[in-house]
Amino acid sequence: MIFAINCEICRMQKITFSDIENLLKADRSVRRFDASRHISLDALERIVGLTRYCASARNLQPLRYMAISETEDCDALFPLLSWAGYYEWWPGPDIDQRPTGYIIQCLDTSLTANPMCDDGLHLQAMTMGATAWGMGCCIIKAFNATKLKELFKLPDYIEPRYVLAVGYPAEKTAIVEMGADGNYKYYRDKDDTQCVPKRSLEEILLK
Ligand SMILES: Cc1cc2nc3c(=O)[nH]c(=O)nc-3n(C[C@H](O)[C@H](O)[C@H](O)COP(=O)(O)O)c2cc1C
Repeated sequence: MIFAINCEICRMQKITFSDIENLLKADRSVRRFDASRHISLDALERIVGLTRYCASARNLQPLRYMAISETEDCDALFPLLSWAGYYEWWPGPDIDQRPTGYIIQCLDTSLTANPMCDDGLHLQAMTMGATAWGMGCCIIKAFNATKLKELFKLPDYIEPRYVLAVGYPAEKTAIVEMGADGNYKYYRDKDDTQCVPKRSLEEILLK
């Protein structure tokens, strides 16, 4: 246990504002992976461990996790997921570009029906951790929760909320300036880089 003022801990561990900014900039959604590179259950569980340090509404900590790294479980889960809604022409990653791990985020509904924003905080912590560790992630909300519950025999009170796909990236990503037309849809450019328009600071600041 470390007893210190927050900013002192950052200073001692040399964590700067730029480190966080750079990590967030690197932490793009990845949808094409190197399927030949396995991710261990240990690594996934370590990523889940990051969520323990997140803020939590009422400090209730109602989220639960299932880490999936066995190939046959990954293969069974994949068809339940929907990828890149803006790419109607793309059914999702080919067999050699699929994620090799998944983290299923669930809510323990015996504790609460509403996790407030704990789910998002946890997802961001996990994607940042995985990115810093050389992996890439895609947060997936579009999945068949009923079939997922059946597949992994989840009890009634455990409600799957998000699937985090994890793997070693096999695509380039880039943040791009949003054009004057305000088009926020991501796209792949001529070099097949996944480009993600982000709004400017001026636009999101209400003055
Ligand atoms: C709450 C949430 C749900 C999402 N659901 C999906 C999804 O079902 N399928 C998918 O391919 N991407 C999904 N994404 C990824 C977004 O499309 C992605 O975050 C967005 O395009 C911005 O790209 P970036 O993450 O690289 O900044 C989701 C992201 C969030 C935050």
